[in-house]
Amino acid sequence: MTRSAYFYSTAALAIGLILSPLSFVRAEEAAQNYQMFCAVCHGTTGSGDGPGAVTLPIKPRNFTDCDRMRRVSDEEALNVIRNGGAATKLSPDMPAWKDSFSIEETRALLQYVQSFCKGDQVGRITQIRKP
Ligand code: HEC
Repeated sequence: MTRSAYFYSTAALAIGLILSPLSFVRAEEAAQNYQMFCAVCHGTTGSGDGPGAVTLPIKPRNFTDCDRMRRVSDEEALNVIRNGGAATKLSPDMPAWKDSFSIEETRALLQYVQSFCKGDQVGRITQIRKP
């Protein structure tokens, strides 16, 4: 192997090693953020039945209602998560999270939320879609 070929293959390997755990960490972090901040209303399994939902007049979105979720675009959902229900003509009980999460964290959260309609992928997403 020439020196430069060796360099490039080592570099490619190193980049691969760095990138894959990173996207995995991002998905893991999203799962944790969801359970810590969203599950209280949306439920640990995304069914909209968390303990905080009991007293709400308008129930939190049931993320396992796939027909309903299909009608919400990524942009709409991101807007709701970032700016809250009051700013988006949904229930004002849905808080705004733009001061809590970066755009990337919010996208990862959205992917996690969408994974409830892809049953076999829940909690196992390792790829975060690019904007
Ligand atoms: C205090 C309770 C509460 C918490 C905490 C909460 N939500 Fe919600 N969420 C709601 C309610 C209520 C709605 C609105 C349902 C409606 O108006 O039909 C909603 C709606 C949504 C929607 C629906 C978007 C749409 O257009 O259908 C998304 C996505 C969402 N929440 C994501 C999240 C995420 C992600 C978190 C955590 C970072 C979170 N929510 C935390 C109560 C909550």
